[in-house]
Amino acid sequence: MKIIMLGAPGAGKGTQAKKIAEKYTIPHISTGDIFRANIKNNTELGQKAKTYMDKGELVPDELVVDLIMDRFKEADCANGYVLDGFPRTIPQAEALDKALAANGEKVDFAINVEVPDENIINRMSGRRACVGCGATYHIKYNPTKVEGICDACGEKLILRDDDKPETVKNRLSVYHEQTQPLIDYYAKKNVLAEVDGTKDMEDVFNDIVTILGK
Ligand code: AP5
Ligand code: ZN
Repeated sequence: MKIIMLGAPGAGKGTQAKKIAEKYTIPHISTGDIFRANIKNNTELGQKAKTYMDKGELVPDELVVDLIMDRFKEADCANGYVLDGFPRTIPQAEALDKALAANGEKVDFAINVEVPDENIINRMSGRRACVGCGATYHIKYNPTKVEGICDACGEKLILRDDDKPETVKNRLSVYHEQTQPLIDYYAKKNVLAEVDGTKDMEDVFNDIVTILGK
């Protein structure tokens, strides 16, 4: 099963993609996580991506497309995947379709997690990310057992650089301009499903399972 998560920054794509990956035993591929891992390891790709990410801008399409095409070659992608943060522009979506079509494949579901802009800033300012394993939490909606410490690996939690309110505002306008057109793109391909992302995390997940099937 090949699934795409659509939605504004902070809509809960990563939160739901992780649950989908566990339930359907497919890999969760987050381009944002891959970039953050490269920044942490100070790779050339990480250095390039950081200049865009810190401003809330998108990383150039060719960098992202090359990265994702390499990721698809790994063995764990054989039965599909859940893509979180890719595609984010029409050219990225077209590159994905072209690569899939070359193998007679296509996207099965594009799930749009809908959350109004008013809720987004609140979510982002409360999000905390683990410096060790990248797990994300929320100080109010998904707190850790011990404040500031990751439940999964015991490392400390931080506020992402791009989760500061000024950058979030820019990420939202970039989203509306460059990523929102993908909703129509996938609607026209009859693979779009919409879920109300303002519900509790578990309720959102149940709605997604209803769409994907048990
Ligand atoms: P990326 O990491 O993909 O960021 P994003 O799309 O902005 O998404 P987020 O990770 O911020 O949010 P999310 O929707 O996953 O929400 P989450 O589940 O964490 O990308 C970062 C940057 O990398 C981009 O700005 C760009 O520069 C670059 N990049 C990445 N991919 C790219 C691409 N393809 N092309 C070009 N550039 C690219 O949830 C948010 C918070 O809310 C959490 O604290 C969570 O606990 C909480 N929460 C989740 N669900 C609920 C709920 N139902 N109720 C209450 N709280 C909730
Ligand atoms: Zn951790």
